[in-house]
Parts: sequence; C-alpha cells; structure tokens
Amino acid sequence: MRIIAFHNLKGGVGKTAAAVNIAYLAAGHGIPTLLWDLDAQGAASWYLGETPDLVGEKAAKLVKGKTPVGRMIRPTAYDKLDLIPAHPSFRNLDLRLEKDGNDHMLKDWLKPLSEDYGLVVLDCPPSLSKLAEQVLATADQVFVPIIPSWLSMNSWEQLLHFAREKKIKTAKLHPFLSLVDRRKKVHLEMLNAPPQALKNRMRSFIPYASDVEKMGENRCPVARIRSRSPAALAYEMLWKEIRKISRL
Ligand SMILES: Nc1ncnc2c1ncn2[C@@H]1O[C@H](COP(=O)(O)OP(=O)(O)OP(=O)(O)O)[C@@H](O)[C@H]1O
Ligand SMILES: [Mg+2]
Repeated sequence: MRIIAFHNLKGGVGKTAAAVNIAYLAAGHGIPTLLWDLDAQGAASWYLGETPDLVGEKAAKLVKGKTPVGRMIRPTAYDKLDLIPAHPSFRNLDLRLEKDGNDHMLKDWLKPLSEDYGLVVLDCPPSLSKLAEQVLATADQVFVPIIPSWLSMNSWEQLLHFAREKKIKTAKLHPFLSLVDRRKKVHLEMLNAPPQALKNRMRSFIPYASDVEKMGENRCPVARIRSRSPAALAYEMLWKEIRKISRL
C-alpha cells in the first residue's frame, strides 16, 4: 500500500481538487483507493457527493484508540474508491495529537488498511502543524500544488525548511504548478523558466479551468464533467507522473 499526500501550507492552491481527481483516476485504473479528507472544511467529501460526518467526538476517540479508522470508511459512488469523510472534530486533531497522541499515530492508524487498499490519498488542511508533520512523515510521496507567483515560492521554501527541521526527507516533496493561467505574464514566465527552487518540479501542471470550479457545483471529479477537457487531461498527465514516482 502506498500513501500519498497533497499538501501546502498555503490555502486555495488546488490540493483538494488534485487529491479528489487523482484518487478517482487511481481507482479507475483498478487500484483500490482510500481518500482521507483530513480537513474539517470537508471539501473533498463535498466533491465526492458525501456529507461530512457530523456525529460524535471522532478526533478524540481516534487518538485514544476508541474508534478504529476502519469504522470511519465509507464507499463512494465510484468503484474501488472509498472515503474517510471530514469530521468537524478534525479541527482539533492537532491539539489531540499533542495531548494524547504519539509521533507515529497516523502511520499506526493506516497500517491495518494495507490489506484492503493499494493507495491511500491524504487531503490535508493548509498548515504546518503536528498533523502536517505526521502527514509528511507518513506519506511515501507528498505532492505540492503551487500557484505560479513569487509569493508562492515563500511557502514552498517554508515547507522545505519545516521538513528539514523535522528530519523528513525533502526528496519526497514534489512541487507542481497549479491554477496556471497563461494569460498572466508571471505564470507564463514560471512555466517556461521556473525559479531555481522549482527546478525539480513535476513536468505536469494543472491549468486554471472553469471545469475544476464546477466540481463544487456538480460534486464529482472533472473527468465526470467533461472527460476530454484540458483539465481532465491535465489530471491524467499528473496521475501518470504520480504513478511513476510512487511506483504504483
Ligand atoms: N485548476 C483550477 N482551475 C480553476 N479553479 C480551481 C482550480 N483548482 C482549484 N480551483 C478552485 O480554487 C478553489 C480552491 O481549490 P481547492 O479547494 O482544491 O484548494 P485547496 O488548496 O485544497 O484549498 P484549502 O487550502 O482551503 O483546502 C476552489 O474554489 C476550486 O474550485
Ligand atoms: Mg483543501
């Protein structure tokens, strides 16, 4: 079982859109896939037509070992794709992990799932928290969407710094350009001549596309909105690269 995560401490960069589309494509390619919506906002759950889980004190019970992760899994409308929906208490997961948890809690939660899944996709909230630390440590590969702007370079450098500080191998962090709008000069510049810090970025990039925005309204992956659209093809390309990097 491979574990991949979509992370960036910056919000609104396309983490959730990528996590949902990549999980959908992985499942479509026959890999039993679990998407864990770790963000209390519940956007990934929403995109998959699910409602966040509103009952009980999940985060507290999870950390105390009273709720096995398996019990939180739900099937989705798509074959081979399951979901752990967001839960409002995930907002407190950081505090809970600090208080009652240990440093390899997330890894331990995921371990028993290896018989059922070939891939786990973690959709993370935008932060550099205790949860982020565990996500970065647990994931085999971390994919980092970056909007082409100079300010975005800052958050990428901060993520690298955080990883080094926590003794996490930075080689597992893979930036890719997201929300690329070719009408913007700086976007074109970064696409054609990326700054040194992005020299090792992934080849694929996700264009700015209204079809991705429509995921919120249609509540499904982009391939289900228009299967040959530029956005759907871009996620296909990204999936191929992720598959190779993750040896799936
Ligand atoms: N390629 C794209 N083209 C156009 N709009 C996009 C694209 N990717 C994402 N969006 C839109 O941008 C917003 C943020 O996207 P998304 O939720 O995927 O980002 P995020 O990084 O997960 O945000 P957060 O940090 O809040 O979790 C959403 O409204 C989404 O519809
Ligand atoms: Mg998100």
